[in-house]
Amino acid sequence: MTTESTLLINQVLLHPDSQCIELNDWLAGNGGTGLTKALSDVDCIIPMIKDAGLRGLGGGGYPVYKKWQFVAEQAPAPDKYLICNGNEDEPGTFKDAYLLSNAPNQVVEGALIAALANEINKIVFYINPEQVNSIQNIRNAVKQWQASDFFTQVEKKLSKPLHIRVMESSGHYIGGEETAAIESIEGNFPFPRGKPPFPAISGAHGCPTLINNIETLANIPHILRHGDQWFRDLGNGDSTGTKLYCLSGDVFNPGVYELPMGTPLSELIFTVGGGMLWDKKIKAVFTGGASSSILTPEDIDVPLDFDSVHERGSSLGTGAMIVVSEGTGIVKRVTEYVNFYAHSSCGQCPSCKTGTFYISQLLNKIDTGQATGVDLDSLINLCKILPGSGLCHLLDGAIKIVDSSLNHFEHEYKSSLNN
Ligand SMILES: Cc1cc2nc3c(=O)[nH]c(=O)nc-3n(C[C@H](O)[C@H](O)[C@H](O)COP(=O)(O)O)c2cc1C
Repeated sequence: MTTESTLLINQVLLHPDSQCIELNDWLAGNGGTGLTKALSDVDCIIPMIKDAGLRGLGGGGYPVYKKWQFVAEQAPAPDKYLICNGNEDEPGTFKDAYLLSNAPNQVVEGALIAALANEINKIVFYINPEQVNSIQNIRNAVKQWQASDFFTQVEKKLSKPLHIRVMESSGHYIGGEETAAIESIEGNFPFPRGKPPFPAISGAHGCPTLINNIETLANIPHILRHGDQWFRDLGNGDSTGTKLYCLSGDVFNPGVYELPMGTPLSELIFTVGGGMLWDKKIKAVFTGGASSSILTPEDIDVPLDFDSVHERGSSLGTGAMIVVSEGTGIVKRVTEYVNFYAHSSCGQCPSCKTGTFYISQLLNKIDTGQATGVDLDSLINLCKILPGSGLCHLLDGAIKIVDSSLNHFEHEYKSSLNN
């Protein structure tokens, strides 16, 4: 277990050498070493990512090499796409915007290495339009990389021109879902698509498409540079490397912190986050954004990695940790989140549009003391019948948080009823 004295914070993606806007500064701090290695031995890239055990950091934790292998196996004609997913609109999640604004060069280098490994000739940086600094700084970084000798070398290896586009997403939460992102790139409203076909086979404009989160891509140059064992040693079991945690809520020092995978939640809150505001007691932590199950004070020792958090019935998700203190009404908080999901539903699946709408209405009724036991029963019933009925996971996320709050805090729901 990591102790206060040995706690390694901000050591890779947020290392001072990584936090630079200009390409020259990045290269001066040994940036570019990973891409140089990748250029010298393209065939080593995917095996190295596999051995490093890197998992997707956009919420799902899917092994990165598996997706890459699928895409790499597809014929390169006419095009292959990489979507660098920076839509980031989940409540409590703000790490990708931080990376893009403060440390964009490692993201571009990671994307170039992904292009090499998968014979990709079209890269799209797909960024939330509200993140003005992210857009400006990634545009600046892309321009500088395009003017560099590295870019010419990558194109030579690919034997075709490499196009990079920095695109503003629609800004809708749903637009971050991978198939919705593909629709956006094709110029359409971000309606998620059914799967199969999976994007790796048929994605943007029917071409093989790799989609990775910004934080996932940022790790790639470091793995190539330092090796897979180094990356494994940073983490915990099957969750290798470090993780960016978005700490918010009732803590002294909210912010984005990079810690080794497996760092206990207590250390994030009390050592790094400076503890609870006004020394209040913790009541709950909304993990992984607002679409996961809630952790309670009994889980304060949980190592923050994919498997350990899963064992406690929740998920690491995007790494967002929203801390709630004693005295906060859980029903109100859950109502706010579900209102967000109801607004964010794209409307394509009736179960999601009407389901999130009804759940939001019931929660608002309970929260304002206008509900009866019948309303609470309806809410519980909707949580049983709705999961899995939408094309994407938006509805499931909304249900998960209600269900979990009912499991832990049913008494608060009951005491709000007007019987
Ligand atoms: C409603 C919804 C919104 C999502 N938003 C994002 C997002 O903003 N950024 C992101 O990287 N992944 C988002 N995802 C997950 C993506 O579908 C996809 O799994 C991810 O971009 C893959 O990258 P990774 O394997 O590197 O994690 C979202 C998923 C859902 C269901």
